[in-house]
Amino acid sequence: MTALDESKTAIDDLAHLARLALVGKERDVHTFVRRLANRYQLQAPQLSKDLAQLLRQAGSKTSVLRGTTVEAIPVDLDSRLQLARPEYPVQLDIEPQWRPEIQNQLRQIVAERLKEEELQNENLSPTRTALLTGPPGVGKTLAARWIAAQLDLPLIVLDLSAVMSSFLGRTGNNVRNLLDYAKGIRCVLLLDEFDAIAKRRNDDAEVGELKRLVTVLLQEIDNWPSSSLLVAATNHEDLLDPAVWRRFEAIIRFDMPTAEDVNRTLRLHLGDQPGATRWQTILTRVLQGMSYADIERAIRCARREAVVQVLPLEETLGRLVKERVEALPKVDRRGMALSLMEAGLSQREASEWTGVSRDTIRKYQ
Ligand SMILES: Nc1ncnc2c1ncn2[C@@H]1O[C@H](COP(=O)(O)OP(=O)(O)OP(=O)(O)O)[C@@H](O)[C@H]1O
Ligand SMILES: [Mg+2]
Repeated sequence: MTALDESKTAIDDLAHLARLALVGKERDVHTFVRRLANRYQLQAPQLSKDLAQLLRQAGSKTSVLRGTTVEAIPVDLDSRLQLARPEYPVQLDIEPQWRPEIQNQLRQIVAERLKEEELQNENLSPTRTALLTGPPGVGKTLAARWIAAQLDLPLIVLDLSAVMSSFLGRTGNNVRNLLDYAKGIRCVLLLDEFDAIAKRRNDDAEVGELKRLVTVLLQEIDNWPSSSLLVAATNHEDLLDPAVWRRFEAIIRFDMPTAEDVNRTLRLHLGDQPGATRWQTILTRVLQGMSYADIERAIRCARREAVVQVLPLEETLGRLVKERVEALPKVDRRGMALSLMEAGLSQREASEWTGVSRDTIRKYQ
C-alpha cells in the first residue's frame, strides 16, 4: 500500500467513525473501533493500543447498566427520540454545599442503599422514592447526581420533551415504558420537572390524558422496587397532585442559600485567590437572595472578565459589588456605604457607588 492509499483509508475510516458517532449508534462505534484497533496493529501500533485501552474503559462503563446499553433506553414511537438520558459514571465538578438538614437526609438515603442487606434482615427496604422541591438553582438536580455518584450507579434522567409525545395518548405509555426500563436495572431515575407530568387532576382545562398519566404515576410510585431509586424534582410543589405528593417516602425541601451558605459558596468558587478576601464579606451581603447557580454564574463572569481584560480579580469583583449595590433598595445603601469604606473604599467612592451623600455617610460614621 502506498502512503497515499494509506492516508485515504485513514480519512475514510475517520469519516465513517464520525458518521456512526453522530447518529448515536454506540454499539456500531464499538464494533468499528475494535476493527480499527486490529487493522492498525502493524501500521500504527501505539494507536492500536490506545484504541484497545479506550474500548476496555468504555466496556466497564456500560457494564453497570447490567448488560443493557444506552440503546436499550425506550424511545418515543413517533419521534424515535430516547425518553431519557443516561449518565455513568456521574462526575461532579464541584463539591456540593448542603445545609446540615439536607445533608443528613441525602446521606441517610445513600447509607440505606449501602446497608440494604442489614435492612432486609429486619424486613425493611431502603428508601425507594424521594421528592426534591425548591426554587430554581438550589441543588435539586445536583442532589440526584450526587446520590448517583455516591452509589456509583447510573443516573437516568427523563427527557421531558421526548416523553411528551405529539400523539395524544402516547405520553402515558412513554412514561410507563421508561419506568419499566428503570425498574429493570439498578439506577437512580430522575424525573426532573416532575410537575409537568404530575399536575393536579382537578384542573378542568387539563385533557383526560394528563389525568390518566397521574394515575399511572400513582401506581408506579406505590409499586416501585427497592432495586432502583426514583427521584422526582420540582420547583412548583403547589402544582403537584396531592395524591402524588403523599406517596413519596422522603421529601426534601431545598431553600435559597442563607448568608452562611453564600459565604461558603464564595469560598468554594474563589478559594484564597488574591483579591477575593477583600470583597468576601461584602459579596456575601450583596449576593444574598441569589441562588447557588446565580452566585456561581456571577463569580465565573467576574473571573472571566479578569482574564480576558487582563485585570486584577479584585477589580472585576469590585464591579460586581458595584452592580449589586446599585440594585439595592435605598434604605439598605446607607449601611452598605459604611461597609464599602471598611473594605477600603474612600468616602467619595462609597458615596458614588451607593448614591448616599457624603454628608449622610459622615453622620452615620
Ligand atoms: N448546594 C449547592 N452547592 C453548590 N453548588 C450548587 C448547589 N446548588 C446548586 N449549585 C450550583 O448551581 C447549579 C444548578 O443547580 P441545580 O441544577 O441542581 O439546580 P436545581 O435546583 O435543579 O434547579 P432547577 O429547578 O432550575 O432545575 C449546579 O450545577 C451547581 O453548580
Ligand atoms: Mg434541576
